Amino acid sequence: MDKYAVIGHPIEHSKSPLIHSEFARLTGQPLEYHAILAPKAGFADAVKQFRQAGGKGANVTLPFKEEALALCDELSERARRAGAVNTLIWNDDERLLGDNTDGLGLVSDLKRHAYPLRDARILLLGAGGVARGVLLPLLSERPKRLVVANRTAHKAERLAADFSSFGPVTGVGLENLDGTFDLVINGTSASLSGKLPDLHRVKLAEDGCAYDMAYGDSLTPFQCWALENGARHALSGLGMLVGQAAESFALWRGVHPPIEPILELLQGEVE
Ligand code: ATR
Repeated sequence: MDKYAVIGHPIEHSKSPLIHSEFARLTGQPLEYHAILAPKAGFADAVKQFRQAGGKGANVTLPFKEEALALCDELSERARRAGAVNTLIWNDDERLLGDNTDGLGLVSDLKRHAYPLRDARILLLGAGGVARGVLLPLLSERPKRLVVANRTAHKAERLAADFSSFGPVTGVGLENLDGTFDLVINGTSASLSGKLPDLHRVKLAEDGCAYDMAYGDSLTPFQCWALENGARHALSGLGMLVGQAAESFALWRGVHPPIEPILELLQGEVE
């Protein structure tokens, strides 16, 4: 059977083995998928060993996404622009291809929920790796404008400058942020520590939507903020997680797996 894996450190909480095993079952694809814990200084060795053991492709998670980029022989445009690789694919002549499906996972989840993208005023909070990873796929949807806002202003300005050739993107410090947005996406890591970025000057448009790329057992502080401020929807990043996995699976197997059954399974788990 063809072998796939997710490689990270830590790895025990990864939902990828469950997701991909379900994808394989639902699409009738004969494959096995495991989690591999790589030592912090041993990512390249872990990848090599997995290939020697017959690995066909792998997902890469924290903290190895940048290291994975450096290891690849070829990169997709979106991986290169994201500065990170979450999907490895070996082709028949042993070249290692790197792609990044995180942004596609977000955009496909936003579209599934009919969130506004085309001509929308989008606010992206955060300017770290997660925010960088979704900028190109978001700009490809041709929003009216995309504002990147970050606690540390110069990082947002820098990020916006890096992507300015792809669409109308600007960067600003959170304290100078002003305006009304159709869609607010939280790409900061604040939710992971139960915190909320300072959003007192942010306004959601009537019928506006919010999306937290983080997810947890209950609503994140950002989702609560959005609902209190009149958001039509305030989703967590669980759908993005399944969406990025589905895109990786499609790259490896040429088949798009169904999203809904896995989401239902995972929602049952986190509730
Ligand atoms: P990741 O890979 O998750 O993006 P990162 O590169 O460390 O991690 O970036 C974390 C992001 O969350 C940054 O944009 C950070 O803002 P700073 O650049 O100012 O540090 C943001 N962040 C983390 N905690 C935050 C908080 N409590 N309020 C606002 N922004 C926060």
